[in-house]
Amino acid sequence: MAEIKNTLTSVPQNQFNINSEVRVPGDKSISHRSMILGGIANGITEVSGFLESGDCLATMQAMQSMGVKIEKEGNKYIVHGVGKHGLKAPDSGKIDCGNSGTGMRLLSGVMAAQQFDSEITGDKSLNSRPMTRITKPLEMMGANVSATKTGTAPLKFKAVDQLNSIDYQSPIASAQVKSCVLLAGLYSDGLVTLTEPKLSRDHTENMLRGFGCALQSNDLTVSMQGGQSLQATNIQVPADISSSAFFMVLALLSKNSQITFKNLCVNPSRTGVISILKLMGGDIKFTNQSTNAGEQIADVVVKSSQLHGIDIPHQYIASAIDEFPIVFIAAALATGETRLTNAMELRHKESDRITAMADGMKILGVNCHELDDGIVIQGGDLNGGHVDAQDDHRIAMSFLIAGQFAKGNITVDNCENIMTSFPNFLTICEDLGLWIS
Ligand code: S3P
Repeated sequence: MAEIKNTLTSVPQNQFNINSEVRVPGDKSISHRSMILGGIANGITEVSGFLESGDCLATMQAMQSMGVKIEKEGNKYIVHGVGKHGLKAPDSGKIDCGNSGTGMRLLSGVMAAQQFDSEITGDKSLNSRPMTRITKPLEMMGANVSATKTGTAPLKFKAVDQLNSIDYQSPIASAQVKSCVLLAGLYSDGLVTLTEPKLSRDHTENMLRGFGCALQSNDLTVSMQGGQSLQATNIQVPADISSSAFFMVLALLSKNSQITFKNLCVNPSRTGVISILKLMGGDIKFTNQSTNAGEQIADVVVKSSQLHGIDIPHQYIASAIDEFPIVFIAAALATGETRLTNAMELRHKESDRITAMADGMKILGVNCHELDDGIVIQGGDLNGGHVDAQDDHRIAMSFLIAGQFAKGNITVDNCENIMTSFPNFLTICEDLGLWIS
Protein backbone atom coordinates (compact mmCIF):
# COMPACT_ATOMS: atom_id res chain seq x y z
CA MET A 1 0.00 0.00 0.00
CA ALA A 2 1.36 3.47 -0.91
CA GLU A 3 2.53 5.35 2.18
CA ILE A 4 0.46 8.35 3.21
CA LYS A 5 2.95 11.15 3.91
CA ASN A 6 1.83 14.21 5.80
CA THR A 7 2.46 16.45 2.78
CA LEU A 8 1.34 15.22 -0.63
CA THR A 9 1.45 16.79 -4.07
CA SER A 10 -1.10 16.19 -6.78
CA VAL A 11 0.20 16.74 -10.32
CA PRO A 12 -2.46 17.62 -12.91
CA GLN A 13 -3.16 15.34 -15.86
CA ASN A 14 -4.15 16.93 -19.15
CA GLN A 15 -6.51 14.29 -20.38
CA PHE A 16 -7.97 11.19 -18.73
CA ASN A 17 -9.37 8.14 -20.41
CA ILE A 18 -10.34 6.15 -17.35
CA ASN A 19 -12.37 3.00 -17.83
CA SER A 20 -12.22 1.11 -14.57
CA GLU A 21 -13.95 -0.85 -11.87
CA VAL A 22 -13.19 0.37 -8.37
CA ARG A 23 -13.71 -1.44 -5.08
CA VAL A 24 -13.46 1.06 -2.27
CA PRO A 25 -13.05 -0.39 1.24
CA GLY A 26 -15.84 -1.23 3.67
CA ASP A 27 -18.32 1.31 4.98
CA LYS A 28 -16.96 3.17 8.01
CA SER A 29 -20.30 3.63 9.78
CA ILE A 30 -21.26 -0.04 9.41
CA SER A 31 -17.76 -1.19 10.46
CA HIS A 32 -17.90 0.75 13.76
CA ARG A 33 -21.35 -0.62 14.51
CA SER A 34 -20.33 -4.23 13.72
CA MET A 35 -17.72 -4.19 16.49
CA ILE A 36 -19.91 -2.48 19.10
CA LEU A 37 -23.05 -4.54 18.49
CA GLY A 38 -21.07 -7.76 17.94
CA GLY A 39 -19.21 -7.13 21.21
CA ILE A 40 -22.35 -6.79 23.34
CA ALA A 41 -24.30 -9.56 21.58
CA ASN A 42 -24.64 -13.11 22.87
CA GLY A 43 -22.55 -15.43 20.70
CA ILE A 44 -20.06 -15.14 17.86
CA THR A 45 -20.44 -12.54 15.10
CA GLU A 46 -18.35 -12.87 11.94
CA VAL A 47 -17.63 -9.62 10.12
CA SER A 48 -16.34 -9.57 6.55
CA GLY A 49 -15.35 -6.44 4.66
CA PHE A 50 -14.52 -4.58 7.90
CA LEU A 51 -12.79 -1.24 7.22
CA GLU A 52 -9.28 -1.52 8.67
CA SER A 53 -8.82 2.22 9.13
CA GLY A 54 -7.60 4.18 12.14
CA ASP A 55 -11.12 5.13 13.26
CA CYS A 56 -12.64 1.65 13.08
CA LEU A 57 -9.58 -0.06 14.56
CA ALA A 58 -9.84 2.35 17.53
CA THR A 59 -13.42 1.19 18.10
CA MET A 60 -12.34 -2.45 17.79
CA GLN A 61 -9.58 -1.86 20.36
CA ALA A 62 -12.05 -0.13 22.66
CA MET A 63 -14.24 -3.24 22.66
CA GLN A 64 -11.17 -5.45 23.18
CA SER A 65 -10.08 -3.32 26.12
CA MET A 66 -13.49 -3.97 27.71
CA GLY A 67 -12.97 -7.73 27.46
CA VAL A 68 -14.32 -8.66 24.01
CA LYS A 69 -12.11 -11.21 22.24
CA ILE A 70 -11.77 -10.32 18.55
CA GLU A 71 -9.65 -12.41 16.17
CA LYS A 72 -8.82 -12.12 12.50
CA GLU A 73 -9.27 -15.25 10.38
CA GLY A 74 -8.47 -14.72 6.72
CA ASN A 75 -10.38 -11.60 5.76
CA LYS A 76 -12.97 -11.99 8.53
CA TYR A 77 -13.07 -10.67 12.04
CA ILE A 78 -14.52 -13.05 14.62
CA VAL A 79 -16.13 -11.13 17.47
CA HIS A 80 -16.79 -13.19 20.61
CA GLY A 81 -19.72 -11.27 22.05
CA VAL A 82 -19.80 -11.08 25.84
CA GLY A 83 -23.48 -10.15 26.12
CA LYS A 84 -24.88 -6.82 27.22
CA HIS A 85 -23.71 -7.19 30.80
CA GLY A 86 -20.41 -8.93 30.07
CA LEU A 87 -18.17 -5.89 29.50
CA LYS A 88 -15.52 -5.11 32.10
CA ALA A 89 -13.77 -1.85 32.97
CA PRO A 90 -10.93 -1.11 30.54
CA ASP A 91 -7.53 -1.88 32.19
CA SER A 92 -6.34 1.72 32.03
CA GLY A 93 -9.83 2.98 32.93
CA LYS A 94 -9.72 4.98 29.67
CA ILE A 95 -10.77 4.48 26.09
CA ASP A 96 -9.07 6.42 23.29
CA CYS A 97 -11.16 6.93 20.14
CA GLY A 98 -8.42 8.77 18.26
CA ASN A 99 -10.02 11.00 15.60
CA SER A 100 -13.41 9.31 15.54
CA GLY A 101 -16.61 11.12 16.49
CA THR A 102 -18.63 8.03 15.58
CA GLY A 103 -16.52 5.81 17.84
CA MET A 104 -16.79 8.23 20.74
CA ARG A 105 -20.48 9.04 20.49
CA LEU A 106 -21.62 5.45 19.94
CA LEU A 107 -19.35 3.90 22.57
CA SER A 108 -20.56 6.55 25.04
CA GLY A 109 -24.07 5.11 24.75
CA VAL A 110 -22.72 1.78 25.97
CA MET A 111 -20.27 3.09 28.56
CA ALA A 112 -22.89 5.35 30.15
CA ALA A 113 -24.88 2.24 31.07
CA GLN A 114 -22.14 0.12 32.66
CA GLN A 115 -21.71 -0.86 36.29
CA PHE A 116 -18.13 0.43 36.25
CA ASP A 117 -16.54 3.88 35.97
CA SER A 118 -14.73 4.80 32.75
CA GLU A 119 -13.42 7.66 30.68
CA ILE A 120 -13.44 8.25 26.93
CA THR A 121 -11.06 10.57 25.11
CA GLY A 122 -9.64 11.32 21.67
CA ASP A 123 -7.11 13.40 19.74
CA LYS A 124 -7.00 17.21 19.71
CA SER A 125 -9.66 17.51 16.99
CA LEU A 126 -12.06 15.04 18.61
CA ASN A 127 -11.60 16.57 22.06
CA SER A 128 -12.72 19.91 20.67
CA ARG A 129 -15.95 18.65 19.08
CA PRO A 130 -19.34 19.18 20.78
CA MET A 131 -20.42 16.37 23.11
CA THR A 132 -23.35 18.05 24.90
CA ARG A 133 -25.47 16.68 22.09
CA ILE A 134 -24.98 13.21 23.64
CA THR A 135 -24.42 14.02 27.32
CA LYS A 136 -27.79 15.79 27.47
CA PRO A 137 -29.98 12.83 26.44
CA LEU A 138 -27.75 10.42 28.37
CA GLU A 139 -28.31 12.47 31.54
CA MET A 140 -32.05 12.52 30.85
CA MET A 141 -31.81 8.71 30.85
CA GLY A 142 -30.15 8.77 34.27
CA ALA A 143 -26.51 8.40 33.21
CA ASN A 144 -23.81 9.94 35.37
CA VAL A 145 -21.58 11.60 32.78
CA SER A 146 -19.42 14.69 32.89
CA ALA A 147 -17.70 16.61 30.12
CA THR A 148 -15.23 19.51 30.24
CA LYS A 149 -16.54 23.03 30.99
CA THR A 150 -16.90 23.64 27.26
CA GLY A 151 -18.96 20.48 26.74
CA THR A 152 -16.19 18.48 25.10
CA ALA A 153 -14.36 15.19 25.80
CA PRO A 154 -12.76 13.67 27.82
CA LEU A 155 -16.08 12.33 29.07
CA LYS A 156 -16.19 10.64 32.47
CA PHE A 157 -18.80 8.01 33.28
CA LYS A 158 -19.74 6.78 36.74
CA ALA A 159 -21.22 3.34 37.29
CA VAL A 160 -25.02 3.04 37.15
CA ASP A 161 -27.36 0.08 37.67
CA GLN A 162 -29.83 0.85 34.94
CA LEU A 163 -30.97 3.67 32.66
CA ASN A 164 -34.48 5.06 32.25
CA SER A 165 -36.82 5.45 29.33
CA ILE A 166 -36.68 8.62 27.22
CA ASP A 167 -38.75 10.44 24.60
CA TYR A 168 -36.17 12.72 23.02
CA GLN A 169 -36.60 15.44 20.40
CA SER A 170 -33.12 15.73 18.96
CA PRO A 171 -32.40 19.30 17.85
CA ILE A 172 -30.06 18.03 15.10
CA ALA A 173 -30.23 15.32 12.45
CA SER A 174 -27.41 13.18 13.81
CA ALA A 175 -27.01 9.43 13.50
CA GLN A 176 -24.36 9.59 16.18
CA VAL A 177 -26.81 11.10 18.67
CA LYS A 178 -29.59 8.70 17.61
CA SER A 179 -27.27 5.69 17.87
CA CYS A 180 -25.92 6.77 21.26
CA VAL A 181 -29.48 6.97 22.63
CA LEU A 182 -30.50 3.63 21.09
CA LEU A 183 -27.42 1.83 22.42
CA ALA A 184 -27.97 3.30 25.90
CA GLY A 185 -31.62 2.35 25.43
CA LEU A 186 -30.67 -1.33 25.36
CA TYR A 187 -29.90 -0.87 29.07
CA SER A 188 -33.06 1.06 29.94
CA ASP A 189 -36.17 -0.16 31.69
CA GLY A 190 -38.76 1.40 29.39
CA LEU A 191 -39.59 2.78 25.99
CA VAL A 192 -36.87 4.70 24.17
CA THR A 193 -38.10 7.15 21.51
CA LEU A 194 -36.13 9.65 19.49
CA THR A 195 -37.35 12.12 16.87
CA GLU A 196 -34.97 14.02 14.64
CA PRO A 197 -35.57 17.05 12.39
CA LYS A 198 -34.39 15.21 9.23
CA LEU A 199 -33.65 11.54 8.80
CA SER A 200 -29.98 10.77 9.53
CA ARG A 201 -28.31 7.53 8.42
CA ASP A 202 -30.15 4.51 9.81
CA HIS A 203 -27.44 1.83 9.94
CA THR A 204 -27.86 1.36 13.70
CA GLU A 205 -31.56 0.64 13.29
CA ASN A 206 -30.86 -1.82 10.45
CA MET A 207 -28.12 -3.59 12.35
CA LEU A 208 -30.05 -3.77 15.63
CA ARG A 209 -32.84 -5.52 13.70
CA GLY A 210 -30.22 -7.91 12.27
CA PHE A 211 -29.21 -8.74 15.85
CA GLY A 212 -32.83 -9.61 16.64
CA CYS A 213 -34.00 -6.38 18.24
CA ALA A 214 -37.50 -5.05 17.59
CA LEU A 215 -37.57 -1.36 16.60
CA GLN A 216 -40.34 0.80 15.17
CA SER A 217 -39.37 3.47 12.65
CA ASN A 218 -42.02 5.95 11.60
CA ASP A 219 -40.88 8.85 9.42
CA LEU A 220 -38.50 10.82 11.67
CA THR A 221 -39.20 8.87 14.87
CA VAL A 222 -37.63 5.64 16.02
CA SER A 223 -38.67 3.78 19.13
CA MET A 224 -37.57 0.66 20.87
CA GLN A 225 -38.50 -1.19 24.03
CA GLY A 226 -35.52 -0.98 26.40
CA GLY A 227 -33.92 -4.04 27.93
CA GLN A 228 -33.68 -6.11 24.74
CA SER A 229 -30.64 -8.29 24.22
CA LEU A 230 -28.77 -8.99 20.99
CA GLN A 231 -28.19 -12.36 19.32
CA ALA A 232 -25.01 -12.70 17.27
CA THR A 233 -25.29 -12.62 13.49
CA ASN A 234 -22.91 -12.43 10.52
CA ILE A 235 -22.23 -9.09 8.86
CA GLN A 236 -20.98 -8.33 5.37
CA VAL A 237 -19.86 -4.73 5.26
CA PRO A 238 -20.58 -3.19 1.82
CA ALA A 239 -18.28 -0.61 0.21
CA ASP A 240 -18.34 2.96 1.53
CA ILE A 241 -20.19 5.52 -0.61
CA SER A 242 -18.35 8.33 1.22
CA SER A 243 -14.97 7.00 0.05
CA SER A 244 -16.28 6.43 -3.46
CA ALA A 245 -17.44 10.07 -3.70
CA PHE A 246 -13.88 11.31 -4.35
CA PHE A 247 -13.61 9.04 -7.37
CA MET A 248 -17.17 9.77 -8.50
CA VAL A 249 -16.20 13.41 -8.89
CA LEU A 250 -12.96 12.31 -10.60
CA ALA A 251 -14.95 10.28 -13.16
CA LEU A 252 -17.45 13.11 -13.75
CA LEU A 253 -14.73 15.72 -14.35
CA SER A 254 -12.42 13.51 -16.47
CA LYS A 255 -12.82 13.33 -20.26
CA ASN A 256 -13.98 10.06 -21.93
CA SER A 257 -14.17 8.25 -18.63
CA GLN A 258 -16.30 5.80 -16.74
CA ILE A 259 -15.84 4.25 -13.31
CA THR A 260 -18.03 1.45 -11.95
CA PHE A 261 -18.10 1.27 -8.16
CA LYS A 262 -18.71 -2.28 -7.02
CA ASN A 263 -20.90 -3.37 -4.14
CA LEU A 264 -21.61 0.11 -2.82
CA CYS A 265 -23.88 0.76 0.14
CA VAL A 266 -26.64 2.90 -1.40
CA ASN A 267 -28.84 3.15 1.68
CA PRO A 268 -31.08 6.17 0.83
CA SER A 269 -29.93 7.90 4.02
CA ARG A 270 -26.45 8.05 2.43
CA THR A 271 -27.07 8.83 -1.24
CA GLY A 272 -27.47 12.62 -1.00
CA VAL A 273 -24.15 13.03 -2.79
CA ILE A 274 -25.47 11.13 -5.81
CA SER A 275 -28.67 13.20 -5.86
CA ILE A 276 -26.64 16.43 -5.70
CA LEU A 277 -24.15 15.40 -8.39
CA LYS A 278 -27.02 14.28 -10.65
CA LEU A 279 -28.73 17.65 -10.19
CA MET A 280 -25.43 19.24 -11.26
CA GLY A 281 -25.66 17.26 -14.50
CA GLY A 282 -23.78 14.10 -13.49
CA ASP A 283 -24.41 10.85 -15.36
CA ILE A 284 -24.72 8.30 -12.51
CA LYS A 285 -26.66 5.02 -12.70
CA PHE A 286 -27.29 2.05 -10.41
CA THR A 287 -27.03 -1.59 -11.61
CA ASN A 288 -27.08 -4.99 -9.86
CA GLN A 289 -29.26 -3.73 -7.01
CA SER A 290 -29.86 -5.96 -3.99
CA THR A 291 -30.57 -5.76 -0.26
CA ASN A 292 -28.51 -7.34 2.52
CA ALA A 293 -29.40 -7.10 6.21
CA GLY A 294 -31.57 -4.05 5.57
CA GLU A 295 -28.86 -2.24 3.60
CA GLN A 296 -29.37 -1.49 -0.09
CA ILE A 297 -26.38 -2.40 -2.26
CA ALA A 298 -25.64 -1.60 -5.93
CA ASP A 299 -22.90 -1.20 -8.49
CA VAL A 300 -22.80 2.47 -9.41
CA VAL A 301 -21.68 3.59 -12.87
CA VAL A 302 -20.36 7.16 -13.18
CA LYS A 303 -19.50 8.74 -16.55
CA SER A 304 -17.82 11.97 -17.69
CA SER A 305 -20.31 14.83 -17.53
CA GLN A 306 -20.56 18.57 -17.98
CA LEU A 307 -21.36 19.87 -14.47
CA HIS A 308 -23.22 23.08 -13.66
CA GLY A 309 -23.84 24.93 -10.42
CA ILE A 310 -27.04 24.51 -8.36
CA ASP A 311 -28.77 25.65 -5.19
CA ILE A 312 -28.30 22.53 -3.10
CA PRO A 313 -31.74 21.37 -1.90
CA HIS A 314 -31.95 21.16 1.90
CA GLN A 315 -33.52 17.72 1.70
CA TYR A 316 -30.13 16.24 0.65
CA ILE A 317 -27.95 17.79 3.35
CA ALA A 318 -28.21 15.10 6.04
CA SER A 319 -27.68 12.28 3.54
CA ALA A 320 -24.63 13.99 1.98
CA ILE A 321 -23.15 15.43 5.17
CA ASP A 322 -19.68 13.86 4.79
CA GLU A 323 -19.35 14.49 1.05
CA PHE A 324 -19.52 18.31 0.92
CA PRO A 325 -15.74 18.86 0.67
CA ILE A 326 -15.61 16.97 -2.63
CA VAL A 327 -18.96 18.43 -3.78
CA PHE A 328 -17.36 21.89 -3.29
CA ILE A 329 -14.50 20.84 -5.62
CA ALA A 330 -17.06 19.68 -8.20
CA ALA A 331 -18.78 23.07 -7.82
CA ALA A 332 -15.49 24.97 -8.21
CA LEU A 333 -14.90 23.20 -11.55
CA ALA A 334 -18.51 23.38 -12.78
CA THR A 335 -20.03 26.25 -14.75
CA GLY A 336 -22.04 28.83 -12.80
CA GLU A 337 -22.82 29.31 -9.13
CA THR A 338 -23.39 26.69 -6.44
CA ARG A 339 -25.02 27.73 -3.21
CA LEU A 340 -25.27 25.73 0.02
CA THR A 341 -27.22 26.96 3.06
CA ASN A 342 -28.61 25.31 6.21
CA ALA A 343 -25.47 23.21 6.66
CA MET A 344 -24.10 24.57 9.95
CA GLU A 345 -23.22 20.98 11.01
CA LEU A 346 -20.27 21.13 8.58
CA ARG A 347 -18.56 23.44 11.07
CA HIS A 348 -18.52 20.62 13.68
CA LYS A 349 -16.79 17.83 11.75
CA GLU A 350 -13.12 16.76 11.95
CA SER A 351 -12.43 20.40 11.00
CA ASP A 352 -14.70 23.35 10.33
CA ARG A 353 -15.28 22.12 6.80
CA ILE A 354 -16.80 25.36 5.49
CA THR A 355 -13.78 27.44 6.52
CA ALA A 356 -11.20 24.74 5.71
CA MET A 357 -12.54 24.35 2.16
CA ALA A 358 -13.10 28.09 1.59
CA ASP A 359 -9.56 28.93 2.76
CA GLY A 360 -8.02 26.28 0.48
CA MET A 361 -10.19 27.13 -2.53
CA LYS A 362 -9.36 30.85 -2.22
CA ILE A 363 -5.65 29.98 -2.35
CA LEU A 364 -6.40 28.11 -5.58
CA GLY A 365 -8.11 31.17 -7.05
CA VAL A 366 -11.72 30.07 -6.58
CA ASN A 367 -14.23 32.87 -6.17
CA CYS A 368 -16.18 31.70 -3.10
CA HIS A 369 -17.51 33.17 0.11
CA GLU A 370 -18.56 31.65 3.38
CA LEU A 371 -22.03 32.01 4.87
CA ASP A 372 -22.71 31.23 8.55
CA ASP A 373 -24.38 28.01 7.52
CA GLY A 374 -22.91 27.32 4.09
CA ILE A 375 -20.96 28.65 1.15
CA VAL A 376 -21.38 30.22 -2.29
CA ILE A 377 -18.96 29.01 -4.99
CA GLN A 378 -18.51 30.43 -8.51
CA GLY A 379 -17.39 27.68 -10.86
CA GLY A 380 -14.37 28.19 -13.12
CA ASP A 381 -10.72 27.14 -13.21
CA LEU A 382 -8.44 26.03 -10.42
CA ASN A 383 -4.88 27.31 -10.06
CA GLY A 384 -2.11 25.29 -8.47
CA GLY A 385 -1.08 26.18 -4.93
CA HIS A 386 -0.26 25.07 -1.41
CA VAL A 387 -3.18 24.32 0.91
CA ASP A 388 -3.73 22.95 4.42
CA ALA A 389 -5.96 19.92 5.03
CA GLN A 390 -6.10 20.88 8.73
CA ASP A 391 -5.67 17.19 9.70
CA ASP A 392 -9.07 16.41 8.18
CA HIS A 393 -9.03 13.30 5.97
CA ARG A 394 -11.85 14.42 3.70
CA ILE A 395 -10.37 17.91 3.14
CA ALA A 396 -7.05 16.25 2.22
CA MET A 397 -8.57 13.81 -0.29
CA SER A 398 -10.76 16.52 -1.84
CA PHE A 399 -7.81 18.83 -2.59
CA LEU A 400 -5.72 15.91 -3.90
CA ILE A 401 -8.46 15.04 -6.40
CA ALA A 402 -8.79 18.76 -7.24
CA GLY A 403 -5.08 18.78 -8.10
CA GLN A 404 -5.70 16.50 -11.05
CA PHE A 405 -7.73 19.26 -12.72
CA ALA A 406 -5.76 22.36 -11.68
CA LYS A 407 -3.51 24.55 -13.84
CA GLY A 408 -0.51 23.67 -11.63
CA ASN A 409 0.45 21.27 -8.86
CA ILE A 410 -1.57 21.32 -5.64
CA THR A 411 0.45 20.53 -2.53
CA VAL A 412 -1.58 19.57 0.54
CA ASP A 413 -0.22 19.71 4.10
CA ASN A 414 -1.50 17.64 7.05
CA CYS A 415 -2.81 14.67 5.06
CA GLU A 416 -1.87 11.85 7.43
CA ASN A 417 -5.41 11.43 8.74
CA ILE A 418 -6.46 9.94 5.40
CA MET A 419 -5.53 6.77 7.32
CA THR A 420 -8.52 7.28 9.62
CA SER A 421 -11.01 6.40 6.88
CA PHE A 422 -9.31 5.36 3.63
CA PRO A 423 -5.90 3.71 4.08
CA ASN A 424 -5.60 2.57 0.43
CA PHE A 425 -6.73 5.89 -1.10
CA LEU A 426 -3.34 6.46 -2.75
CA THR A 427 -3.19 2.89 -4.07
CA ILE A 428 -6.52 3.38 -5.84
CA CYS A 429 -5.31 6.76 -7.16
CA GLU A 430 -2.19 5.07 -8.53
CA ASP A 431 -4.22 2.24 -10.12
CA LEU A 432 -6.36 4.88 -11.89
CA GLY A 433 -3.26 6.62 -13.23
CA LEU A 434 -3.36 9.68 -10.96
CA TRP A 435 -0.11 11.40 -10.05
CA ILE A 436 -0.09 11.98 -6.32
CA SER A 437 2.98 11.50 -4.12
C1 S3P B 1 -21.79 8.97 11.24
C2 S3P B 1 -22.69 9.99 11.30
C3 S3P B 1 -22.45 11.34 10.76
C4 S3P B 1 -21.22 11.40 9.88
C5 S3P B 1 -20.08 10.59 10.43
C6 S3P B 1 -20.48 9.14 10.59
C7 S3P B 1 -22.17 7.66 11.81
O1 S3P B 1 -22.30 12.26 11.82
O2 S3P B 1 -20.82 12.73 9.68
O3 S3P B 1 -18.95 10.65 9.57
O4 S3P B 1 -21.51 6.65 11.47
O5 S3P B 1 -23.12 7.61 12.58
P1 S3P B 1 -23.59 12.91 12.54
O6 S3P B 1 -24.45 11.81 12.92
O7 S3P B 1 -23.08 13.67 13.72
O8 S3P B 1 -24.18 13.82 11.52
